[in-house]
Amino acid sequence: MKALVLAGGKGTRLRPLTHTMPKQLVPVANEPILGYVFHHIQDAGIKEVGVVVSPETGNDVRRFLGRGSRWQMRITYIPQQQPLGLAHAVKIARPFLGNSPFVMYLGDNLLAQGIKEFMEEFHSTTLDALIFLKEVDNPQAFGVAVLNKKGQIIKLVEKPKDPPSNLALVGVYFFSASIHEAIDRISPSARGELEITDAIQELMRSGGSVSGQILDDWWLDTGKKDDFLAANTVVLDDYIKRDVQGKVDIKSKVSGRVQIEKTARIVNSSLRGPVVIGKRCKIVNSFIGPYTTIGHGTRIINSAIEHSVILDKCYIENIARLDDSLIGREARVIHYDKNHSRALRLLIGDNNVVEV
Ligand code: G1P
Repeated sequence: MKALVLAGGKGTRLRPLTHTMPKQLVPVANEPILGYVFHHIQDAGIKEVGVVVSPETGNDVRRFLGRGSRWQMRITYIPQQQPLGLAHAVKIARPFLGNSPFVMYLGDNLLAQGIKEFMEEFHSTTLDALIFLKEVDNPQAFGVAVLNKKGQIIKLVEKPKDPPSNLALVGVYFFSASIHEAIDRISPSARGELEITDAIQELMRSGGSVSGQILDDWWLDTGKKDDFLAANTVVLDDYIKRDVQGKVDIKSKVSGRVQIEKTARIVNSSLRGPVVIGKRCKIVNSFIGPYTTIGHGTRIINSAIEHSVILDKCYIENIARLDDSLIGREARVIHYDKNHSRALRLLIGDNNVVEV
């Protein structure tokens, strides 16, 4: 079994953040999303991984993943010159994949339970494809499946304007080598891409066996700000344990599941978990509320932050309330008057300066 990780794409829905970093490297609880994907592949015991990268962000992805030794696997990079679709990515990965069965994992997707059990299940059958489904509120933004009364898939459509169901296709797919012939028979969709959804539909049409499983646990496509904050929330809920290593002065209060790195300092502040505070952070006269991740080297002075992700090396001062926000690296958010009260909700790219 091999794995194919898709880490290309332009990340338009997370702009401006993705002007300067690939969407797969935006961190959730201070670990890039792609890091979770690789942990899941490692847990499943897969050793050979192909990573499809784009010309725009390929170097960042390579820098983060390296050759794969961190996860005891061997990585082969597969450049995709243009974003011509997920099935196109499989097509160009054919020399790497050969005739091996494989799991395709979209690098911006997060799955609660990993993929080990699903892989074992796929191995124990003679399926050509095992796919996963999850009920969503906005099916028009996804591939959508229609099931019959027995729970078998009868139809798959990519981003339908008028969705025939609310079951979205999750970005993790197990395939046998027969997907390649199906891909050879499909044409580009209206958006000019070779859709993997169309290829699976074609696989079914030509007699291939395809099974869909509805996931009980959470799944997130982190490509947009609110989904991204939702990912931060579930990851903090599920993975974070109390671990206070940094220096907390006696005037500060740390309650609940709060993780503070060794080199961080908390001064006269209140932290209410779940919260993650990165390395070399300094939090002074501030409140950090539930579901917040503070990146490495960030300083927060005289501010209150809740349900937000603040990336590395930011500076935030005199902000009475920052909620539901995503702040890029090295951004500065400053209010020069200490006695203000307005709540802010921001999505800010790297290196920006906001004075309110
Ligand atoms: C892609 C697939 C879609 C699937 C989704 C899952 O969409 O085309 O079928 O439901 O991933 O994340 P994209 O994120 O490329 O718009």
